[in-house]
Amino acid sequence: MTRAAGWVGAVVLAAVVMSCERPRPPEDKLAIANDLRAPGAGQANGRLIFEETCGACHDRSGHGLPGRAPTLHGSPLVSAPPDVIVRILLDGVHDDAPDAPRYVLPMPSWRIIGDRDLAAVATYVRTSFGNSAPPVTQADVARVRHETDGRKRPWSRAELDGMRGESTP
Ligand code: HEC
Repeated sequence: MTRAAGWVGAVVLAAVVMSCERPRPPEDKLAIANDLRAPGAGQANGRLIFEETCGACHDRSGHGLPGRAPTLHGSPLVSAPPDVIVRILLDGVHDDAPDAPRYVLPMPSWRIIGDRDLAAVATYVRTSFGNSAPPVTQADVARVRHETDGRKRPWSRAELDGMRGESTP
């Protein structure tokens, strides 16, 4: 290889590496969404949904924002059996303790999001931010959605803690 060819090769390699590391501009999002139809892409799909839908309150880093939402790093509700996070996503959660932190807005209900996407975002949260809980399946979401149909009010932590206790082996 000549010196010139080696130099060109190094520049091309550097460009490829840089383009992989750069955060993707918004116009690339559709392309990402399309890529994500590929099998096994659930993780990345969940990340996209998280960053666009949850990040405004929980921050893209999952660390939460003061007055907006708590951190999801090491949250016991996130790593509890799948039904807990699915219930939180479908109907929201609120802290009923008198000394609980107060937030500008409650954790919203995400019933408008379909089973596949809720499973993807739940799985992303359970496998990111230092959490390592098993994935949530589309079937889990469909089942819990059916079981809690018509609820229309957020879960209290006391209710969810009860479920955590019951379903933990
Ligand atoms: C409008 C702001 C807002 C958005 C958007 C939002 N959340 Fe929340 N979330 C909250 C608040 C506030 C709480 C805490 C409520 C409380 O304890 O009273 C919360 C709590 C949670 C919890 C329980 C965490 C814990 O340990 O207490 C999980 C899990 C969660 N949110 C996941 C999500 C996911 C996933 C999304 C996106 C699909 C999302 N949230 C979008 C505001 C938001």
